[in-house]
Amino acid sequence: MKKVFVKSYGCQMNVYDAERMTDMLAAEGYSETKAMEEADLVILNTCHIREKAAEKVYSELGRVRELKQEREAQGHETKIVVAGCVAQAEGKEILRRQSAVDVVVGPQNYHHLPDLLKRAKSERPVDTEFPIEDKFDHLPRLEKSRIQTRGVTAFLTIQEGCDKFCTFCVVPYTRGAEVSRPVAKILDEAMRLADAGVRELTLIGQNVNAYHGEGPDGQTWSLGRLLRRLAEVPAIARLRYTTSHPRDMDDELILAHGDLPALMPYLHLPVQSGSDRILDAMNRKHTGDEYRRLIERIRKVQPNLALSSDFIVGFPGETDADFEDTMRLVADVGFASSFSFKYSPRPGTPAAESDAQLPEEVKSERLARLQNLLETQRQAFNHGTVGQTLDVLLEKPGRHPGQMAGKSPYLQPVQFETDAHRIGEIVTVRIVRAGSNSLFGELIGPGDKAAA
Ligand code: SAH
Ligand code: SF4
Ligand code: F3S
Repeated sequence: MKKVFVKSYGCQMNVYDAERMTDMLAAEGYSETKAMEEADLVILNTCHIREKAAEKVYSELGRVRELKQEREAQGHETKIVVAGCVAQAEGKEILRRQSAVDVVVGPQNYHHLPDLLKRAKSERPVDTEFPIEDKFDHLPRLEKSRIQTRGVTAFLTIQEGCDKFCTFCVVPYTRGAEVSRPVAKILDEAMRLADAGVRELTLIGQNVNAYHGEGPDGQTWSLGRLLRRLAEVPAIARLRYTTSHPRDMDDELILAHGDLPALMPYLHLPVQSGSDRILDAMNRKHTGDEYRRLIERIRKVQPNLALSSDFIVGFPGETDADFEDTMRLVADVGFASSFSFKYSPRPGTPAAESDAQLPEEVKSERLARLQNLLETQRQAFNHGTVGQTLDVLLEKPGRHPGQMAGKSPYLQPVQFETDAHRIGEIVTVRIVRAGSNSLFGELIGPGDKAAA
């Protein structure tokens, strides 16, 4: 049997896509390996979001090329595929920069992989045209045995692409226009996942709350409505969604946070900056105060809401005062966890053309200050859960014998001792201590017995 090794960079969408690629290649006779050295097929599923992410691909390709040569000397052939957002953005350029690459395939075209691999016997195909057909219709159905190897939590793509065109961002170019999958297909996938033991679904999309899919009633469903329906799927105990845009938090979605116990009280809602001037230059189409008011509205229906966000520092033209606005917004809102980045100019995006680029030292200094504050908030949030009783979904054995590890509603890893519970159960745990990355607790309540 031939072996495939897939390495994914970037966001959850790439994780999901990588799983679909391995599922599809399984049907073509490839088994998945975690060891690149023994792979007949190496797929790098790449990310183009920041320069560092994109450049990493070329250094990795250098290593893969050496491997290919070593294997060739031993009489084994290795095919190298570059997939994902760098493939989409750079296309043929990748073949030019790295002669060992056999196939380049964009994120909307990977259902063509079996055919592309055949063509790769005599040419070096590049497939980055946005196809008219829906790739999901051409991917194999999820197999129970394959789902089970991936655990009790799963990603489910419900929407792809982005029409927002934030001026710093490559995603609208690499992933194309917003497309929502029909409700029936999402439900079918959700049931299959549930049937194989999945308890927690994270609905994903580049702009997931812009979801507007065709419902079984012929109407257009919003994310709020879809969540309501998914909450009825037996065995699915937890729902999450990511990544959302503040502009698309409509009333139906906000209300769902109050009404649906399965919808976890943890929301990733990137704000990027706290300065109205910078938000405007970023084309985010909301102000800092609008973001604050939005959070207040969601907290009104879900007082336990914990937040996470993405931030960019050093956007072109960002002054000290703009940066202080960001620090103030962070202090006002309070985040349980966050991702923060130095602005990275990306080819083809409007902000990259600006004359007001900031020096690296300024970006580094601001990033350090922001990350310091965000880390203090993260630790404070984790310490704040000590003494609380939280539901924990058991995901795997713990670090030590007799321990289990799972996640709190706020996605915090929790370790505790038990000998009677199984992966997939949800138990009640009192948190007794917060470490730097995990919480430690003691079991106080039984499982819900719905384990896989
Ligand atoms: N769709 C999501 C974000 C996807 S990209 C949203 O709208 O929030 C993930 C994060 O990468 C962004 O939220 C942003 O903080 C960061 N990012 C995107 N482009 C960037 C760039 N050019 N430089 C630095 N960070 C960037
Ligand atoms: Fe990028 Fe903005 Fe679209 Fe998010 S909303 S993917 S940051 S363009
Ligand atoms: Fe990266 Fe593409 Fe995701 S650029 S963040 S892999 S959508």
